[in-house]
Amino acid sequence: MCRRLFLFLVALTFVPWSYAALNDRQPPAQKPNFVFIMTDDQDLHLNSMQYMPNVLDLIAKEGTTYQQHFCTVAQCCPSRVSLFTGKLAHNTNVTDIIPPYGGYPKFVQQGLNNDYLPVWLQQAGYNTYYTGKLMNAHSTANWNNPFPAGWNGTAFLIDPGTYNYYNATFQSNRDPPASTPGQYNTDQVAQHALNMLDQAYAAGAPFFLGVTPIAPHCQTIFNPTTPIPGFLPPIPASRHQNLFPGVKIPRSPNFNPNVPSGASWITHLPQLNSTEIDYFDNFYRSRLQALQAVDEMISTIIDRLTQHGLLNDTYVIYTTDNGYHMGNHRMQPGKYCAYEEDVNIPFYIRGPGVPRGKTVDFVTTHTDFAPTLFQLAGIPLRSDFDGSPMPVTGNAQEQRRNAPAPDHTMVEYWGTGGFEGAYGLQGINGSFTQFLNHTYKSMRIVTNKYNLQYTVWCTNEHELYDMTRDPSQMNNLLGPSASVNATPLASPLNRPLSQVQPRLDALLMVLKSCKANQCTQPWKVLHPDGDVNNLVDALNGEYDAFYTEQPKVEFEKCELGYRVQSEGPQTPNYYGTNMAEWT
Ligand SMILES: *[C@@H]1O[C@H](CO)[C@@H](O)[C@H](O)[C@H]1NC(C)=O
Ligand SMILES: *[C@@H]1O[C@H](CO)[C@@H](O)[C@H](O)[C@H]1NC(C)=O
Ligand SMILES: *[C@@H]1O[C@H](CO)[C@@H](O)[C@H](O)[C@H]1NC(C)=O
Ligand SMILES: *[C@@H]1O[C@H](CO)[C@@H](O)[C@H](O)[C@H]1NC(C)=O
Ligand SMILES: *[C@@H]1O[C@H](CO)[C@@H](O)[C@H](O)[C@H]1NC(C)=O
Ligand SMILES: *[C@@H]1O[C@H](CO)[C@@H](O)[C@H](O)[C@H]1NC(C)=O
Ligand SMILES: *[C@@H]1O[C@H](CO)[C@@H](O)[C@H](O)[C@H]1NC(C)=O
Repeated sequence: MCRRLFLFLVALTFVPWSYAALNDRQPPAQKPNFVFIMTDDQDLHLNSMQYMPNVLDLIAKEGTTYQQHFCTVAQCCPSRVSLFTGKLAHNTNVTDIIPPYGGYPKFVQQGLNNDYLPVWLQQAGYNTYYTGKLMNAHSTANWNNPFPAGWNGTAFLIDPGTYNYYNATFQSNRDPPASTPGQYNTDQVAQHALNMLDQAYAAGAPFFLGVTPIAPHCQTIFNPTTPIPGFLPPIPASRHQNLFPGVKIPRSPNFNPNVPSGASWITHLPQLNSTEIDYFDNFYRSRLQALQAVDEMISTIIDRLTQHGLLNDTYVIYTTDNGYHMGNHRMQPGKYCAYEEDVNIPFYIRGPGVPRGKTVDFVTTHTDFAPTLFQLAGIPLRSDFDGSPMPVTGNAQEQRRNAPAPDHTMVEYWGTGGFEGAYGLQGINGSFTQFLNHTYKSMRIVTNKYNLQYTVWCTNEHELYDMTRDPSQMNNLLGPSASVNATPLASPLNRPLSQVQPRLDALLMVLKSCKANQCTQPWKVLHPDGDVNNLVDALNGEYDAFYTEQPKVEFEKCELGYRVQSEGPQTPNYYGTNMAEWT
């Protein structure tokens, strides 16, 4: 009683926009707050979330879980730039972690430092705060040249100490960077986050707080004398270093299979031996242990929001930048692939109007994040967003269930693959050249009736997985030994693969260079008359010739960045001629 009265008075005095929420269930009179927590390289498919009880209890159970949430590029910097701009990587052209194709310098060069989420939120009246890693190649060399725009308060983790768990480099506000030997990286981020919540509360306006600890990313030390930084298992806080004895990576069907899987160089990987697998299991435990400091941080953040009477007016969002694999398809630890482990990632939201304890299977992506915040904050959507608002509130979820909506996502990648950990750093059979052929375009279609993944590699190898029958992606229906006529897909796609593939290829042709609403309504690009809204419609026999004659997604060669001249045909044929509304 006493506490409630206190909160009420606090809210009344300092945070007038929470007044309505205290008294009834009307939406907040003013814009809601956002606390956005994003880890680095966290898997969903290796079960890391099962070891984070606070995220599950305080965010997932109090809100909605998006189990079909995807990153659109499985690498930190390009993924973060897409998340903060609402644009696919082929529209940001930030496609790598370092220059010339990526990293913070490329983000600045593309003009995005003046045109991304915090800048837009400030323009809408938000105070904005950020602590943790912003993006790669943000370093002691370029931290003030220019400063990242759009923030009222910052405590960035920057290179060379971004991924140093016990000697991080922080750069706060306008202060010069400082190393922090002996302090635990994630705990420092947590402390900055709490200080920023206090500042946001004192400022008394709606706020966005980004909290991006590096866990469970590898401990990575940049050493000028070695060309490749050592990507070694993360280092947990000492209080967590003995947790989870005996816990192992789940042995899913694609874990170190006897028969090779995948395509391109992945299909030539040697099977892992017992030394490597033991090492991976230890590495996996280090990841789970390193995540414990993040999980502890979640409860301190929720507590602080509660103390300030802000919790009911705040959306708390938890996700990661991209997923992670270990042993899947015989791979050494790492990311960069379009397989489920790397792209289907955790995403949870709690907040005003969000149904509690719900799990939804709407297809959503990181390019939807900025549009989602815009919608929740009542800011008109930008016309150049490639994503669309995620259905967050109960009403929006209900509408999405009853309306045709995006059922696809695209995943793209340019440049080198690569592996982490002691054995990964040795290359494949001692060689690194294979990694050069890692550019690809990929696509998922996820509905409750069919579920497919289709990929075209820069080597022009193709992959198609029937994810309903083969969720582990072990049977490439377009692999060298498969026959396109032999393997029909499950109903309602029961037409020969030789008819299904051209439809998927045409859709990927649209998605690989789509802009704005083309990305959310790609069938409408192919069929401007609006008669085709999904794969089943497109499989109608009357379109067989149209799809057979389509130009095909293909590459001239494997490039390290987005060089359009190497990426083959760019536009599909359109059914009919009325393209006016798309050009
Ligand atoms: C927050 O909302 C819940 C449920 O609507 C209500 O029980 C609680 O009193 C509210 N707390 C504050 C601080 O507004
Ligand atoms: C945050 O920054 C914006 C843009 O510079 C400014 O308008 C606003 O007053 C700042 N808020 C606070 C609390 O200083
Ligand atoms: C911490 O890292 C900095 C460089 O980021 C280095 O100069 C310093 O020697 C390190 N300190 C310790 C104790 O390792
Ligand atoms: C690596 O070595 C294994 C076992 O010797 C062999 O089967 C595989 O083809 C090699 N892979 C590549 C890419 O050279
Ligand atoms: C397993 O492979 C690694 C990397 O090639 C090698 O160092 C190790 O000796 C091998 N272990 C066994 C038991 O063969
Ligand atoms: C990379 O792909 C090209 C085709 O673009 C192929 O000719 C080359 O052999 C591949 N390199 C390796 C190392 O697999
Ligand atoms: C993307 O950036 C790279 C590096 O600056 C440049 O070579 C390339 O032409 C750009 N691609 C597009 C499509 O603008």
